[in-house]
Amino acid sequence: MSNRGSNPGPHTGFPAGPGAAVWRMNEIACHAVVFLVQNVRMNPTTVNTSPYLATAFANDRAHVFHSWSAQGQISPVVIAGAKGSRMWDDKGNTWLDFSSQLVNVNIGHQHPKLVAAIQEQAGRLCTIAPGFANDMRGEAARLICELAPGDLDMVFFTNGGADAVENAVRLARGHTGRHKVMSAYRSYHGATGTAITLTGDPRRWANEPGAAGSVKFWGPYPYRSAFHSSSVAEEGERALQHLSDVIMVEGPHTIAAILLETVVGTNGILVPPDGYLAGVRALCDRHGIMLICDEVMAGFGRCGEWFAVNKWNVTPDLITWAKGSNSGYLPIGGVVISRRIAETFRDRPFHGGLTYSGHPLAAASVVASIGIFKEEKIVEHARHLGTDVIGPELAKIAAKHPSVGEVRGLGVFWAIELVRNRATREPLVPFNAGGAAAKPMVELMTACKAGGVWPFAHFNRLQVTPPCTTSDDEIREGLAAIDKALEVADQYCTA
Ligand SMILES: Cc1ncc(COP(=O)(O)O)c(C=O)c1O
Repeated sequence: MSNRGSNPGPHTGFPAGPGAAVWRMNEIACHAVVFLVQNVRMNPTTVNTSPYLATAFANDRAHVFHSWSAQGQISPVVIAGAKGSRMWDDKGNTWLDFSSQLVNVNIGHQHPKLVAAIQEQAGRLCTIAPGFANDMRGEAARLICELAPGDLDMVFFTNGGADAVENAVRLARGHTGRHKVMSAYRSYHGATGTAITLTGDPRRWANEPGAAGSVKFWGPYPYRSAFHSSSVAEEGERALQHLSDVIMVEGPHTIAAILLETVVGTNGILVPPDGYLAGVRALCDRHGIMLICDEVMAGFGRCGEWFAVNKWNVTPDLITWAKGSNSGYLPIGGVVISRRIAETFRDRPFHGGLTYSGHPLAAASVVASIGIFKEEKIVEHARHLGTDVIGPELAKIAAKHPSVGEVRGLGVFWAIELVRNRATREPLVPFNAGGAAAKPMVELMTACKAGGVWPFAHFNRLQVTPPCTTSDDEIREGLAAIDKALEVADQYCTA
């Protein structure tokens, strides 16, 4: 039994005041509170015999300082184990993990071959400094370059996504000799100095003024167009014209890079209109600007492609990657670098480095993960799930529930955008809602969890982002639970 002596108990609402919205976002998306989860199946498939399980909650509350949270306002569920697409807590409640944790467990939990590869490498060599050559690091780099488009042919390894973005920007600045970087509103690029400055969501606000040289623009979002577009194609064209205008007034010769999420993740699963990425590429080419595609979330199967850019046949100058590369079994990320940029640093040093760059244990997990993806045709399966199961099922859900304004996505990367009124598109909760304003989303997430599914929630959206390895039946099971839970959201509809 768990010892919950210091458990502050279930929360009934959200805190008010500065930081509340960020707390709320994290609350809904990640930590999840004890919200009266009374459901659910009681059949975890393995027993956790850790001697620390019983004290996990008390130790967490006493000593673990959590990300993005007001520390006194959270009550994390103690996860005792996970396998495939399911996870369970210390009381035996189980959930379908439709969030893939932080949209990174693309291969599913505890894939036996990936676990074995890590164990094998741990027995061989746990760590070696980045200055040495290493078999697993070299092979991971070779495999990633093989999957990347065009002349992207070298890899700089990092510990995760934010530092991949930091170093991609450093490479672009070093290559061009320019300083400014343009990035989109409604984006997330990580929580380190430059990455959070370039982020286009409220997580940036408390970190401002941040690094110099960041310029924001609007990307395409047909459902809530910043350009008053009346079609997806028009949205793509107008978004490109807007970007071109911002480049003009900023001075193209001052801009080192345009950084964008190939498919925007946390901020809405915004799939670019056909032609948009090619248009951005053309603008970059015209002005000598580097194109950095951030595929930390969108890459490695999430969009039904190895790299999402492959879907549109666009070759960026730099691609950042992390999460799905090894499903977060160990921390790793990196930048795939074009030959042209790499050449800049042939006789001139690159001024960046990390103690764990290309860590052999993490690199071995990337090698094994890519092998498993190929063997089990996981990218193809993710594409099939999007096209044949999730897309059609979500279309049925949209037709049934007045609270569903739009469903959109591809692969295993989907958003259900919730509204109070389909005609006016008034969001179910306001942008960045916290406190009482976020109540409908809290209730919806509570209903989902009670039904045995754990989606990702952000602002007025449920995001359906299960592991790429989820079976068709598990997808249907999870979507049936979401379908039922949406009755809670429907009650808030005014039309
Ligand atoms: C698109 C994107 N870029 C960068 C990051 C930052 O990655 P990390 O949390 O590994 O630093 C994230 C994290 O969610 C992301 O979604």
